[in-house]
Amino acid sequence: MVIPFVRPACSLLEVREVGKRYDGRTVLDGVTFALQRGEIVSLVGPSGCGKSTLLRAIAGLDGDFSGEIWLDGVPQRGSSARIGVIFQEPRLLPWLTVADNVAFSAGPRRGSDPRVDELLGEVGLADARQALPKQLSGGMAQRVALARGLFPKPDLLLLDEPFSAVDAMTRTRLQDLLLSLTLAHGTAALLVTHDLDEALYLSDRVLLLAPSGRAGAGRLVRDIAIATPRPRSRRDESLAGLHTELFDGLNGIGALQS
Ligand SMILES: Nc1ncnc2c1ncn2[C@@H]1O[C@H](COP(=O)(O)OP(=O)(O)OP(=O)(O)O)[C@@H](O)[C@H]1O
Ligand SMILES: [Mg+2]
Repeated sequence: MVIPFVRPACSLLEVREVGKRYDGRTVLDGVTFALQRGEIVSLVGPSGCGKSTLLRAIAGLDGDFSGEIWLDGVPQRGSSARIGVIFQEPRLLPWLTVADNVAFSAGPRRGSDPRVDELLGEVGLADARQALPKQLSGGMAQRVALARGLFPKPDLLLLDEPFSAVDAMTRTRLQDLLLSLTLAHGTAALLVTHDLDEALYLSDRVLLLAPSGRAGAGRLVRDIAIATPRPRSRRDESLAGLHTELFDGLNGIGALQS
């Protein structure tokens, strides 16, 4: 009898005991967590605690770390089309049209790909395909960056403070857009943010990272699940309670720092 090979179910992303030192100083220490398909997880912590460093390691932009990072059961080294990265600033190429920027991972001047128009429609920029980045507002440019991040059909989006440079109203709209896009595409997201309300509104879980340069540096100190069903109200009382818990967690860390 032939027994079929059944691949064991695994998490989309597994970060195992990841450590990082800069100039002899520990920035990340034994960071371990898993992220499931379609899950939205926020990473919060004081400035300089290693959030961007961790994202760069997961994105494959920095291979100089200890521990292991696995994507869908395979060790992850180097950048991968399965992981999209979105930074604080849109980082669009100024000489390319919006459409060519969205399709850039397929090669230069690939803006005629039909997926470009689908994605631009989803982010509300169907009419801007021929525009140049200098003609866009900050919020529009970040929507182009979201479309570009989704163009290669990634399983995971890594977002490093993606909405911190826009005004409050644009920010809430971009948060809702991120939710609808990740849901529509089944994409998981790991989001770095300093905004606790944003983390609680968007996430299935919030991870709290302790600061570098002290005892306990660079370790995950909280992993808080948010069970509040979606669509969520930004004024939901259960989120307010979790806000206090997270704020106290961050303040506790702040007290450790002083
Ligand atoms: N290339 C580098 N060389 C030396 N030290 C670095 C380098 N990059 C980052 N660091 C240090 O590593 C620590 C973590 O930096 P990182 O940028 O990951 O912090 P962060 O949590 O993203 O901070 P912020 O919230 O301000 O963006 C900081 O103390 C920073 O000074
Ligand atoms: Mg950072």
